[in-house]
Amino acid sequence: MKLPIGLSVTIPLLLVATIAFFTLSPPCLSSSSCSVLSSSVAASPSTWKLSLFRLHPPHRSAAALLTAVAVTKQQQQDLSVKENSFSVNKTPIPLIKPTATKLDRMESNLARARTAIREASRLRRRTPPDTNLTSSSSDEYIPRGAIYRNADAFRASYSEMERLFRVYVYKEGEPPIFHDGPCRSIYSSEGRFIHEMEKGKGKNMYVTEDPDEAMVYFLPFSVVRMVQYLYEPGARETDGIGRAVLDYIGVVSGKYPFWNRSLGADHFMLSCHDWGPRATTYHPHLYNNSIRVLCNANTSEGFNPAKDASFPEIHLRTGEITGLIGGPPPSSRSILAFFAGRLHGHIRKIVLDTWKDRDQDVQVFDNLPPGVSYESKLRNSRFCLCPSGYEVASPRVVEAIYAECVPVLISDSYMPPFSDVLNWSAFSVTIGVEDIGRIKEILTEIPDEQYLKMHRRVKQVQRHFVANGPPKRFDVFHMTVHSIWLRRLNVRIQNSSL
Ligand SMILES: *[C@@H]1O[C@H](CO)[C@@H](O)[C@H](O)[C@H]1NC(C)=O
Ligand SMILES: *[C@@H]1O[C@H](CO)[C@@H](O)[C@H](O)[C@H]1NC(C)=O
Ligand SMILES: *[C@@H]1O[C@H](CO)[C@@H](O)[C@H](O)[C@H]1NC(C)=O
Ligand SMILES: *[C@@H]1O[C@H](CO)[C@@H](O)[C@H](O)[C@H]1NC(C)=O
Ligand SMILES: *[C@@H]1O[C@H](CO)[C@@H](O)[C@H](O)[C@H]1NC(C)=O
Repeated sequence: MKLPIGLSVTIPLLLVATIAFFTLSPPCLSSSSCSVLSSSVAASPSTWKLSLFRLHPPHRSAAALLTAVAVTKQQQQDLSVKENSFSVNKTPIPLIKPTATKLDRMESNLARARTAIREASRLRRRTPPDTNLTSSSSDEYIPRGAIYRNADAFRASYSEMERLFRVYVYKEGEPPIFHDGPCRSIYSSEGRFIHEMEKGKGKNMYVTEDPDEAMVYFLPFSVVRMVQYLYEPGARETDGIGRAVLDYIGVVSGKYPFWNRSLGADHFMLSCHDWGPRATTYHPHLYNNSIRVLCNANTSEGFNPAKDASFPEIHLRTGEITGLIGGPPPSSRSILAFFAGRLHGHIRKIVLDTWKDRDQDVQVFDNLPPGVSYESKLRNSRFCLCPSGYEVASPRVVEAIYAECVPVLISDSYMPPFSDVLNWSAFSVTIGVEDIGRIKEILTEIPDEQYLKMHRRVKQVQRHFVANGPPKRFDVFHMTVHSIWLRRLNVRIQNSSL
């Protein structure tokens, strides 16, 4: 879906958010059909640089914010990392004074975590490369090998996250728009993440009930549900969605000190809907400061990888991933490349116009012939084409990774998920829109030895896209939280009273 043009920001009129504690058992999680979740996407993160550490002092006005942004830019230049998104530059560890607040202690813990990650990242190259990639069970999994940009830094960062990271989920608002979301369909990642956070303390290792102890604050609204309930199909404006977002922030910023303290920089929202980014444009601080976790990670539409996180899109038709994971070895894959999908958006149009019914090696369909199984095509192909549709993300990337088919990313301005950690070029191929006509040539030129490596790495990276119920270490849920953790690590919050 594309958003109609001509939106305008309006003042909140309608109080959508009411104070309510959500006690219903979320339907997603109580049903066994929701037991597993996963997803992914891919592209080339060559321009990606996570500059660790943006200073975010409290500001009360837009003018002050602009100054802060200027400082931030300078700091990013000083501190951004050239090749490795993970190295952290020297940051002094603040001494904890006797009068220290919870916030001071938290920031001091974060500073130590930055140091630990920085030190671990220096161990790089001393770690043995791709050895024994698939042997460990998920509980003892140790990240190593070429799929990672810096496996040592990731290991350190992941363990610091497990030790320290705490998330507070605002209680305000009522289902279905808040605290709830879809568990099936192409938007399932959104609903499943929200439901996982709603499990609360004890069942979700990151959630805290004490907002003073939290490092980030989750705004638990579902854009998919807002579109369903607050948007009249065909209408030329989406102001109902904008008002709900503004009202919600109005309520939580009036009731708690946290939003004003950071102007939203330690808050996050999450959406898999095409309109997820658009929903955030109604509030300048949400758009400019908060961590936005989005499937539609279009860098030409304001997605900012230094503060926003790309979220995998997973199409769970039945709500289950059982039977979707795994595939035969490369030697039994007879099709060079495969794609099936409708004509959504300009990139798919080029793919279909160029390849549909043209070639036995590059099999492109808008509709599969009757009796032909989509999954079996994925499993019998060496490469699976993942062109963008109406928005940049494609659920085909995860489908390919599940079926152990090497994904071929065909997109423009797309930031694939977990690019801060994963080296996508080690296990996927990126083909520019202008090279769609050369797909066969490009894929045929990849030497077999190289293909076998990529295939092996796709199997290794699979665990990061599998959604388990309950989540398991290093799966898509924890990887998503890790993306948020890294971005929080980039920010320092100070109390205005200091
Ligand atoms: C791989 O790991 C398994 C189990 O952890 C171990 O038994 C085996 O010897 C390892 N293989 C290599 C080549 O290190
Ligand atoms: C946060 O700022 C807004 C707007 O300046 C103000 O209305 C609100 O009362 C503040 N919240 C708190 C908790 O002080
Ligand atoms: C983000 O900040 C810039 C100024 O840096 C401002 O011009 C822009 O309107 C803000 N974005 C939104 C969506 O409000
Ligand atoms: C990404 O954003 C640009 C700029 O708005 C737009 O032209 C392009 O179509 C978007 N990509 C997709 C796949 O929607
Ligand atoms: C990522 O993988 C590609 C292909 O294997 C390799 O050339 C590149 O050096 C890797 N980048 C990093 C940061 O490891």
